[in-house]
Amino acid sequence: MTNTPTLYIGLMSGTSLDGVDGVLADFANGAIHTLAAAFAPFPPELRAELMALQAASPNELEREALAANGLALAYAECVRALLPSAAGPVAAVAVHGQTIRHRPELGFTRQTNNPSLLAELSGIDVIADFRSRDIAAGGQGAPLVPAFHEAAFGKPGTARVVVNIGGIGNISVLHGDGRVTGFDTGPGNVLIDLWIARHKGQPYDEDGAWAASGTVDAALLEILLDEPYFRQPAPKSTGRDLFHEQWLDAKLAQCPGVAPADVQATLTRLTALTIARAIQDEGVRPDAVYVCGGGAYNATLLRDIGAALGGVKVESTAALGVAPNRVEALAFAWLGWRFATRQPGNLPAVTGARGLRILGALYPA
Ligand SMILES: Nc1ncnc2c1ncn2[C@@H]1O[C@H](COP(=O)(O)OP(=O)(O)O)[C@@H](O)[C@H]1O
Ligand SMILES: [Mg+2]
Repeated sequence: MTNTPTLYIGLMSGTSLDGVDGVLADFANGAIHTLAAAFAPFPPELRAELMALQAASPNELEREALAANGLALAYAECVRALLPSAAGPVAAVAVHGQTIRHRPELGFTRQTNNPSLLAELSGIDVIADFRSRDIAAGGQGAPLVPAFHEAAFGKPGTARVVVNIGGIGNISVLHGDGRVTGFDTGPGNVLIDLWIARHKGQPYDEDGAWAASGTVDAALLEILLDEPYFRQPAPKSTGRDLFHEQWLDAKLAQCPGVAPADVQATLTRLTALTIARAIQDEGVRPDAVYVCGGGAYNATLLRDIGAALGGVKVESTAALGVAPNRVEALAFAWLGWRFATRQPGNLPAVTGARGLRILGALYPA
């Protein structure tokens, strides 16, 4: 009898466009065990091109293909960094790809990628394109992490919320009775990052320190909150298609003269409030809120979420044994394992799809 490999690599590069998070995980005997993690930052030219491809631009067919090749190199580098930690064969690399358009209302989402090149470079089976099938079944194709959040962090009889704060924010409400709901709440770090990049040339607001130095501007906050997406009922998902620089600049134009640090404080509060209100609208009073994604390293953001929830415990997923910057890559490793074992990965209650679907496509080694 041969042993089926249970080691999977998950690769996630999200809307923050900071680089590739990778984990090597072992799913033997139904457990979820992280063996190693790695991060491969995007070369600046690749990041700039992936940013440019977020919106319609000239010759984008060819430019997308070339960016996908560059992306595959970054993915392969991340795989190479993880392989020394694998004691046996790796069953597959599960790779999210880089979202450059997300238009479920038009029937498509595009995670650019070259999985064939990654299979060629790594010599390992590659599973890619996790979102398209859910959209084909009438869903949003997002968020896909709630099923994993339940498997990894759910506790029967206890209501928990897992919040992923990447470029975009999303919540998974683990009701404790087997039900899981969730959706994208709106901007996570995307506006916070672009504002500090514009004013200070830094990629992000380390620990939320700049936001903490400012004061929330109530008038600007109201203007920012006046966005139909926040009032839209679930299922819903979003991305840079909506929350981009022009969106922010149009809002700021309605409220001129706010000092840059105060804008930063207000953008941080916007992320916190939209997350907190999304949780409250789900009608649960969670035992605790666990934050993952890079936003978990922003103390101002966590403080603001806790305050908006009236003192509910807010902590990072490290409290549940998984470092916040590993959760999403681990989720895709797990989705790869689900694909390989022919188990569904979506939750129709979350995405709005017509039913459970097996997500992904295989590119054999
Ligand atoms: N030390 C930190 N302090 C504040 N924010 C941070 C820190 N580290 C990461 N971040 C934020 O997290 C983002 C990356 O989060 P990530 O989970 O990788 O998002 P995505 O999945 O969209 O790529 C960064 O762009 C930054 O905004
Ligand atoms: Mg990232």
